[in-house]
Amino acid sequence: MNEERALRRAVCPGSFDPITNGHLDIVARASKLYDTVHVAVMINKSKRGLFTVEERIALIEECTAEYGNVVVEAFHGLLVDYCKERDIPAIVKGLRAVSDFDYELQMAQMNNGLSGVETLFIPTNPVYSFLSSSLVKEVATWGGDVSHLVPEPVLRALIDRLAKD
Ligand code: PNS
Repeated sequence: MNEERALRRAVCPGSFDPITNGHLDIVARASKLYDTVHVAVMINKSKRGLFTVEERIALIEECTAEYGNVVVEAFHGLLVDYCKERDIPAIVKGLRAVSDFDYELQMAQMNNGLSGVETLFIPTNPVYSFLSSSLVKEVATWGGDVSHLVPEPVLRALIDRLAKD
């Protein structure tokens, strides 16, 4: 193998408000395929989240620390610019169901057309195929049990945040 080859880098982008076991499964699997995985937390000023971007980053860092090759950062703007600035050639996304595919394909083709960055899809673990941050927040808001759907630090943060709201 060529010792000089570039380090393989990929990015897992998203809102992560908050990170779920479904996201974490994708990041964990990507971290086995790449030397470094960047988790890019999108800043969307027009959408107020349950958690601030800084809180989301802290939770993701805590949940991914054991993988040893995950970098968590906020980003504002186009994902292709984030990739270009860091020399990242690949975006890794989870596909939960066929219903995800239309929009994900559009974004993958747009991003490739803009900059040549490739998108690789990993099929979501079927255990999490129904899972989204929005549903977790809704169920938790009404007192439903989400302990099997989010990592422990996120569960604690959700309980704490919803108790205050
Ligand atoms: O977790 P989400 O909200 O489904 O993530 C969507 C995200 C952040 C991956 C997507 O909206 C995105 O890449 N936004 C950055 C802005 C951008 O590059 N838009 C053009 C997409 S083709």
